[in-house]
Amino acid sequence: MLAVFASGNGSNFEALAGAGRSGALGGTIAALFSDRPDSRACECARALGIETVCPPVGRFRTRIEDERTWLDALHARRVGCVLLAGFMRRIHATLLDAFPERILNIHPSLLPAFPGLDAIARAFDHGARVTGCTVHLVDAGLDQGAIVAQAAIEVREGDTLEALEARMHEAEHALYPSAVRRFLTEPWRREGRRLVFESRAGEKHRA
Ligand code: GAR
Repeated sequence: MLAVFASGNGSNFEALAGAGRSGALGGTIAALFSDRPDSRACECARALGIETVCPPVGRFRTRIEDERTWLDALHARRVGCVLLAGFMRRIHATLLDAFPERILNIHPSLLPAFPGLDAIARAFDHGARVTGCTVHLVDAGLDQGAIVAQAAIEVREGDTLEALEARMHEAEHALYPSAVRRFLTEPWRREGRRLVFESRAGEKHRA
């Protein structure tokens, strides 16, 4: 069972849920977990008939004060893998230790460039000619975990931030479900920082 954590708009959650429905995710989404019961992500989950779970977050803005309440809710739903999709709180030891190499995130840059907040705008303002999105394992560092998949996006002459953001979201919605499927269904191993799939890269999108 999979859980998606989202805080905001929920477009990546929708893409994951759509892939889940059509059997293209390699797993079933048991619930959407959110720190924002009023978010569009929660509205989407309700509209899709996916359980919405909003455990307490406590006093802090950038973390969950007591992750054990979230962990209990995950265990109660037999969740084996967590997908962060625009979840704007850092994950700490209680959840990381309970799900070693089982928490994924999508980030709107080609990591290790532009970790953290406002990554699309920072790449644009920096004058990057190529940016993109990254699906990676979550560890204790900020957007530091092993890279599972990336997609590149060209920054065009005359591009606007809005146009780049739109192409970024489109790329994310394609990349995240396919990366999750590959991660869940193909054997892989770690070689230092690298996450290495046993099958050849060219075979990844054939399924
Ligand atoms: C996405 O672009 C995602 O990559 C980003 O937040 C957006 C959420 O959109 N996540 C981060 O910046 C995490 N560091 P969504 O709510 O429509 O899926």
